[in-house]
Amino acid sequence: MLETGARAYRIRGGRPLNGAIRAQTAKNAVSKQLVASLLTAEPCRLLDVPDISEIELALGMLAEIGAAISRDASGAVDIQTADIASTAVGQRYSGVNRLPVLLIAPLLHRAGVARVPIVGGDHIGERPIDFHIALLEQMGARIDADRDGYTAKADRLKGAVIQLPYPSVGATENAIQAACLADGTTVIRNAAIEPEIVDTVLFLQKMGALIQIETDRKIVVEGVERLSGATHRPMADRIEVASFAMAAVATGGRIRIAGADQRAMVTFLNMLRKVGGGFEIMDDAITFFRACDTLRPIHIETDVHPGFMTDWQQPMATLLTQAEGVSVLHETVYENRFGYTRTLNEMGANIALTTACLGGKPCRFLERNFPHSAVVQGATPLVGRRIEVPDLRAGFAYLLAALIAEGESEVLGARFIERGYADIPGRLASIGADIDVVSGFGGDLATQ
Ligand code: EPU
Repeated sequence: MLETGARAYRIRGGRPLNGAIRAQTAKNAVSKQLVASLLTAEPCRLLDVPDISEIELALGMLAEIGAAISRDASGAVDIQTADIASTAVGQRYSGVNRLPVLLIAPLLHRAGVARVPIVGGDHIGERPIDFHIALLEQMGARIDADRDGYTAKADRLKGAVIQLPYPSVGATENAIQAACLADGTTVIRNAAIEPEIVDTVLFLQKMGALIQIETDRKIVVEGVERLSGATHRPMADRIEVASFAMAAVATGGRIRIAGADQRAMVTFLNMLRKVGGGFEIMDDAITFFRACDTLRPIHIETDVHPGFMTDWQQPMATLLTQAEGVSVLHETVYENRFGYTRTLNEMGANIALTTACLGGKPCRFLERNFPHSAVVQGATPLVGRRIEVPDLRAGFAYLLAALIAEGESEVLGARFIERGYADIPGRLASIGADIDVVSGFGGDLATQ
């Protein structure tokens, strides 16, 4: 149910997007690096921190714990938690995002006790935190769960051999942070190796941590006595870059994205090229455009890195509604991340979901009745309408649909999009979109 007061976007579609933007830094790296700053009492500085509400939430939680935070006009954030003022993260952060569970280890290192509310997130699957709890317990934390959250205690965390059941991004980050200041060596097997994790490892290395990323998803962390402050420029947001890249291809425009980094996007670039998207790679930018008149259908299976990111899947589905023929998407990371396709169908798309695994990758959702494969029959013209955003990445898929649709769309639930994409109306308008912001709609704290 919509409340009064929040924002929506009104978009008149059908205009090619042309121009230049700068990539923001990666939400999913910066938020973790802000948390990592808690591992030292010294000052840390993160450059180019994006102006998105997910970061505001992270800063709010850290301020409650005792962080002194300032932000300058360039977007640099100075953060220092000289003393832990509170070992508890407030209930108002209950269910809002994934960060509370990542705060447990730094709080245990600094104060021996932590109280965090339950973790939330976009409704794209169950998203349990069993791996997190198990690894912290394995490292010596005593954790009690109740209806409202988790209470953890530990005199000192100790190194352990952690075998993750699946290469979870958050659980890998949790294990690394817990291990940096633990007593002894920690081996994380079946670790996630997403570029955002590696970027946070770079930051931790500057802080004095000893972290080795080895072959076969093995990360070895030798605990050190203390970490010091550091300055870091986080990597570019490869989800945002891909989102704008698909907007360039879908609208038949040309967008230069300063700061875009090929190295983190190899799989995406291959898939974009197969669909008929073009790109020109320069030292500090990538320009994206449509390389042929008729877009081609493709088969994509999402996966952990270096596979095709699950967060690229949603705008790709919108793009594929414009390809001639049958495309197939197999989502192997989240069991329930295709709910948004119903709205695309209402706009004119022809997307069918199935519980079958449409692809050969090992998939945890085999024979489990989750509608985690999609068949997209294109090309279908889309028609503008009133649409309500269910989560961050589906939000960009809807924006893209509205940008290519005939007529006007009203995109409700802008707050979901603003969790992860900075100044969407301003930046889309700057490259030629016909978009304005409408106030008077409403909603609650969204999550990813
Ligand atoms: N999983 C478990 N148990 C756990 C942890 C994870 O079963 O204890 C499962 C999840 O349910 C899911 C799979 O493992 O099926 C992968 O989840 P993962 O832990 O890797 O995801 P996450 O750390 O919660 C981060 C990003 C997501 C991104 C995923 C995958 C942040 C804040 N979120 O989530 O980003 O989709 O990794 O790359 O870093 C987004 O930015 O919109 C977003 C959802």
